[in-house]
Amino acid sequence: MLDILKNRRSIRKFTNELVSKEDKEKIIKAGLLAPSSMNKKPVELIVIENKETIERLEKCKKLGTLSLKTSPLVIAVVADSEASDVWVEDASIAATFIQLEVEKLGLGSTWIQMRRREAEEKDSEIAVREVLEIPNKYGVLALISIGHKDEDKSPYEDGDLDFSKVRYEKF
Ligand SMILES: Cc1cc2nc3c(=O)[nH]c(=O)nc-3n(C[C@H](O)[C@H](O)[C@H](O)COP(=O)(O)O)c2cc1C
Repeated sequence: MLDILKNRRSIRKFTNELVSKEDKEKIIKAGLLAPSSMNKKPVELIVIENKETIERLEKCKKLGTLSLKTSPLVIAVVADSEASDVWVEDASIAATFIQLEVEKLGLGSTWIQMRRREAEEKDSEIAVREVLEIPNKYGVLALISIGHKDEDKSPYEDGDLDFSKVRYEKF
């Protein structure tokens, strides 16, 4: 697991190659395996491969959408905000599980934050809801862009880790 965690980097440039059906299924399973508070399972995933839709999603946020330009697969991580008061935490775990399975498969991904972000004229969450026809009660956490890596990034090493962030027994 530590090797996967060290190798996972945000990949913002992908090749033209599509993600295979088998890999897609594994990535979806990883998202669905995420635990949720009180096992309420408020998280839902929207799997998007349509190029025009992905282009429309790019316009849902002013900055930070570069990886959508080349990604062949995007998963929107959304959650029923009326089903759980901690849907943000639940959705974050699902998004993380997805990114880790992607790395395990040798693919790359980037988390594109939508909650509390803005498009040109509106809130990013509202903009994504419109594009993907998501009901209002669903919070939109993030889009995960996924594909075959077309950039090299160095894995993290132990020397990169800031152990001063870890305290023992007391703050
Ligand atoms: C909550 C969250 C929001 C993020 N939002 C974006 C984003 O909107 N666009 C983007 O390109 N990367 C985004 N990232 C990726 C971070 O920029 C990236 O994880 C960080 O710079 C560390 O780089 P690494 O992922 O290669 O380790 C986000 C990451 C997290 C955890």
